[in-house]
Amino acid sequence: MSDRVIIFDTTLRDGEQSPGATMNHKEKIRLARQLENLGVDVIEAGFPAASQGDFEAVRDIAATVKNSQVAGLCRAMPSDIDRVWEAIKDAAHPRIHTFLATSPLHMEFKLGKSPDEVFEMAVKAVKHARQYTDNVEFSAEDASRSDREFLAKVVEAVIDAGATTVNIPDTVGYAMPEEFADLIRYLVETVPNSDKAVFSVHCHNDLGLGVANTLAAIRAGARQAEVTLSGIGERAGNAALEELVMALHTREPYYGLTTNVKTEQLFPSCRLLSMIIGQPIPPYKAIIGTNAFAHESGIHQHGMLKDRRTYEIMTPASVGREKTELVLGKHSGRHALKSKLEELGYNLEDEAMGQVFEAVKGLADKKERVYDEDIEAVVLERIYRIPD
Ligand code: KIV
Ligand code: ZN
Repeated sequence: MSDRVIIFDTTLRDGEQSPGATMNHKEKIRLARQLENLGVDVIEAGFPAASQGDFEAVRDIAATVKNSQVAGLCRAMPSDIDRVWEAIKDAAHPRIHTFLATSPLHMEFKLGKSPDEVFEMAVKAVKHARQYTDNVEFSAEDASRSDREFLAKVVEAVIDAGATTVNIPDTVGYAMPEEFADLIRYLVETVPNSDKAVFSVHCHNDLGLGVANTLAAIRAGARQAEVTLSGIGERAGNAALEELVMALHTREPYYGLTTNVKTEQLFPSCRLLSMIIGQPIPPYKAIIGTNAFAHESGIHQHGMLKDRRTYEIMTPASVGREKTELVLGKHSGRHALKSKLEELGYNLEDEAMGQVFEAVKGLADKKERVYDEDIEAVVLERIYRIPD
């Protein structure tokens, strides 16, 4: 089994299904270029059969991107598959990604098909796609709520039909980490031809477990993770690319796995997405939020000033952020204020320092955050005040 996790980015497809995250043609090309810079292995560029606009975006991304594979999504129907191929055929590394639901709920109410019919459709779809390329992915939609034995039967058959990647989605974010890892382990261990394909997972975040489920599945043998920048996607979104990559990176001794992602491009990529979709990054968001490298409490600030590893498990530079910030607020201490004053060019004696500290604390009780300008105003007023 490979020691590298393939990063499959679906920001331009599943991500765009996030309410309010529609992107125009130019924006999609711009984002695809950035995803290539970021070093993702596969860019899912869209769903060509969905609309003429989607078709054109996928076609133009396929013509632009050289280093990442470009995938187009389609239902398990010949006409959809033909449309994807038409859009991606000029890509340097094209991939057809076809999907079909395998859960009792979806088969009965959405597809109106029996398990035998679904089985046959899946095999036919993969065979049809293989006429065009040897890079074919099959997704068993709603896999986590499917009957295990039926799922295993479908997985075995699509691998026999030529699927080189088999994706096991937790389509509605229902799975629990241990349970999902169990499912992946069961498939990897019991499907006789499982070594002929890469196992992939695609975890939605309805219970906030998208990244946890993806990591658990990777420990159980999955080697492709389907993710989106900032975790955007249908409903509560998908597993967040930046969180997954930094978990693997920061805990490399635990996982023993790598990715091709240039981690310093994580923040610039998520910031670009945020500007394109016009949705700000929440301040408390892991890795990329403004608070992710900000420390407010005096105890933490003191530790940080001695050795940053006391309260930081990664450096801001490693994810493309400028610097750690010691935020001055009501929980902050003297050490942080002294360091901030030095940064601003003030070297105060102990007594002056004490006066400024008291005044800044008083200010911090009244406002959420004390800015550099507030501190300078206090110093000028208390210490360098020209007597009347
Ligand atoms: O959530 C899902 O199951 C999907 C598939 C089409 C991969 O997005
Ligand atoms: Zn999805």
